[in-house]
Amino acid sequence: MDAHESRDLRLTREIARRDGAVITKSLKYRLYPFVLGRAEGVRLWDPDGNEYLDWMGCGGAVPAGYGHPEVRDAAIAAIDKEYAHPLVCYIHEPAVELAEKLVDLFPGDFDKKVWFGVSGSDAMDYLAKVVPVASGRPRIVSFIGAFHGMTIGSGAISGHGALSTPIPGGHITKAPYPNPYRCTWGPCDPQECSLRCLDFLRTELLTNVSPADETAAIFAESIQSDSGEIVPPDNYFPALRELCDEHGIWLVFDEIKTAFGRTGRMFGFEHFGIQADAVGLAKPLGGGFPLSAVVGRSAILEVDIYTAYTLGGHPVSCTTSLAFMEVMQREDLAGNAVDVGGYLKEKLLEMKRSHPLMGDVRGKGLLLGVELVTDQQTREPATTDAHRLAYRCFELGLILLAFGNVMEITPPLTITRGDADEALAIFERALADIEAGRFDDSKLDGLH
Ligand SMILES: Cc1ncc(COP(=O)(O)O)c(C=O)c1O
Repeated sequence: MDAHESRDLRLTREIARRDGAVITKSLKYRLYPFVLGRAEGVRLWDPDGNEYLDWMGCGGAVPAGYGHPEVRDAAIAAIDKEYAHPLVCYIHEPAVELAEKLVDLFPGDFDKKVWFGVSGSDAMDYLAKVVPVASGRPRIVSFIGAFHGMTIGSGAISGHGALSTPIPGGHITKAPYPNPYRCTWGPCDPQECSLRCLDFLRTELLTNVSPADETAAIFAESIQSDSGEIVPPDNYFPALRELCDEHGIWLVFDEIKTAFGRTGRMFGFEHFGIQADAVGLAKPLGGGFPLSAVVGRSAILEVDIYTAYTLGGHPVSCTTSLAFMEVMQREDLAGNAVDVGGYLKEKLLEMKRSHPLMGDVRGKGLLLGVELVTDQQTREPATTDAHRLAYRCFELGLILLAFGNVMEITPPLTITRGDADEALAIFERALADIEAGRFDDSKLDGLH
């Protein structure tokens, strides 16, 4: 037993016990009993002082690392100056300045507007509401496997297993998302996978189910994240864009996890050389503070639908967002995502050669997924092993998430190659333990 396994967890256990007594399980997706004590850079400490490397990065919502001095100073200055204000009733400059910045960053030579909220779910909810009204067409197409949020509207456009409650949405049709590792139509070449998905969308869905002239928009993630970092083949989005243009359908991207350097570009859709009509933004947008936004064509956003939240566009979050954007550009966080993300991917691909549990390694920049399988040939999903692996990594000092059978890696964009090496060593050791059956399954009892 090494130092990490024999660590003292008394305070951790006591806080976990209190959490279990009063916080509902309906907000929890807990793969291990980690309790946060403090955080700095790319590292976390539990209340007992044990240190962990963080590959979760708050689901991608802490892009500049925990406690980046400039983001922290901006937050404190904004608390002293603006504190909280209802943007819905009057104006504050941080929101105006941030909206100007977003209009600038979002590519497209057309009139644009910005909307602000609090979380990714409310941004996608807003888009699901305004798009049909703005276009005068009642229907929407979105994707099987998409995760757009947990409100009724954002849940309705999602096609994800996490949305298990009855949610209305008869006007929304779900299309297959091209997944070269698990093509809906069986094993195929990635380019062909795209064409099959597109053909089904054109000839079946946009013809018989959601007729093209009744379809307002297609909603997509540029990389389908919560379904396992599925990167569509390069030919998919350009062809989808063409199809949309042919029928006057807007193409709306959920860039909540993928924007602001995470994949190596400002927006994920830019990898595919196409234009979006609107995007939903959140997670990294606030630099670690709650904030969401929609930026897009004025034709979509400038409609007579009143949707505002009391604390939407919070001045502290708008200020930390502006500070984060400065840091992102000056420290070239997108460049670091390409460098360290590329390094991590290469090392994980090497690791795959000697670890049969690893079926696929994929992603762009610092949005990476490792899909676990019971057999590399049959590709049968190893979902319980993913949960075991997340727990074992936690025991050894690495925090990360698993969605289904895919391990998700979304660390702060400030991670170095040295941090990556440390985390990789833990990951490989945990993997070897799970492959060798060195894990007591009773540890998973009562989790999530
Ligand atoms: C792609 C995507 N869209 C929307 C959401 C919802 O964002 P939030 O949890 O901030 O409401 C998430 C959250 O995981 C997400 O990954």
